[in-house]
Amino acid sequence: MDKLLVHGDSTLQGSINISGSKNASLPILASTLLSSQASIVRRVPDVSDTNYMLQILRALGAEVERSSGTVRVEPSTISPEAPYDLVRKMRASICVMGPLLARVGRAKISLPGGCIIGDRPVDLHIKAMQGLGATVEMEGGDIVLSAPDGLVGAEIDMRGKHGPTVLGTDNLMMAATLARGTTVIDSAASEPEVVDLADFLVKMGARISGAGTRRIVVEGVEQLKGVEHNIIPDRIEAGTFMVAGAMAGEGVTLKRVRADHLGAATDILEEAGHGVKFNSDGTEVHITPGASPKGCDISTAPFPGFPTDMQAQFTAMFATTPGISVVEDTIFPQRFMHCSEMKRMGAEIKVDGGSALIRGVTNLSAAPVMASDLRASAALVLAALRARGTTEINRLYHIDRGYEHIDEKLLQLGAKVERVPA
Ligand code: EPU
Repeated sequence: MDKLLVHGDSTLQGSINISGSKNASLPILASTLLSSQASIVRRVPDVSDTNYMLQILRALGAEVERSSGTVRVEPSTISPEAPYDLVRKMRASICVMGPLLARVGRAKISLPGGCIIGDRPVDLHIKAMQGLGATVEMEGGDIVLSAPDGLVGAEIDMRGKHGPTVLGTDNLMMAATLARGTTVIDSAASEPEVVDLADFLVKMGARISGAGTRRIVVEGVEQLKGVEHNIIPDRIEAGTFMVAGAMAGEGVTLKRVRADHLGAATDILEEAGHGVKFNSDGTEVHITPGASPKGCDISTAPFPGFPTDMQAQFTAMFATTPGISVVEDTIFPQRFMHCSEMKRMGAEIKVDGGSALIRGVTNLSAAPVMASDLRASAALVLAALRARGTTEINRLYHIDRGYEHIDEKLLQLGAKVERVPA
């Protein structure tokens, strides 16, 4: 179990490449199961969550080869049972449910357990599969779904208490590709990762329209084929390094980004007084810290709103930005674990319900802190860049779930960081 030492008061400069999106890779790798032919997926980030997904695909019977960012999956014959010891490691393993049910008429998946960022039910995933005609039973902690005569298209509303569900929309869209007839997904998630999955499925031969809007229409087809695909850039990794550039940079350039995915982060950084400049085709962004930054208020929302996955990182930025900021998380109202750790570093933050009230301080001070989830850990790294002294971030495995070689990228920008065994 590694830990990260961050020697504070670093100045970041230079450029790095942003990796392929973790959250687009996971459902796209799962959707390769929809065909018996081999698919090749490129720019899959080398993070532990994509490795778990590949282990699950192997356990289901697929042949999997990985060579750096390129993954080849050949699922000629597959079994419908996803093993508990793998599924429990990653909540996103739920997204093999739709493909298994569509391809083999059965899926047995352990119910994902609790999660530090809040209660994360799967009721909408189940509702979606039932809407397509599957029967659902609980058996010793497993969800067992079956549709021996195949799935049938239907009109299904995916809106939950906290808005649309991303992986729920993915699961339904994947299952509907092989259902008889037409499926209409109302209140669909419109995140760029959903659009990337739809693009992949369309290449496979699926008939999908409306991805990226709140209403997706899928006309079922008989079968899908294996294809090749490049994953979109990781907008959350990009947003995290944009914040790093604003907090501790002297001119940081991020390459391989997509401006159209970074609108909400760009707006807040500019409102806070920082410089954000994209090149003409929106694939590179240059961040310059503002001379007199100021606090802002943000509230998370589904895309194109401000992403919950960037809430913790912006909270870290506001912790050292003069003035008062209010950060509200409407999607995961309990996702504020990073605040208690940042308070140990001298941040002035009051968490109340689903909001954090932050009074910016001039400097943070180093302390041993504990990473609690992926984005909370990234926030601690950002805070540590602005702290006096050496911050020790424990439980680094959280960050390794979703940030590809974060320590190497920080070193490349001139930060003083060391990964050491705990
Ligand atoms: N929800 C339900 N019922 C369901 C499913 C979700 O009530 O059956 C609720 C959730 O509890 C939450 C809201 O709906 O309040 C939205 O959750 P969603 O289902 O959209 O989350 P997800 O699809 O499981 C993905 C990302 C998360 C990201 C969320 C929201 C992946 C692999 N994960 O999760 O990413 O926070 O969408 O944008 O795509 C991360 O990368 O750190 C991460 C947690």
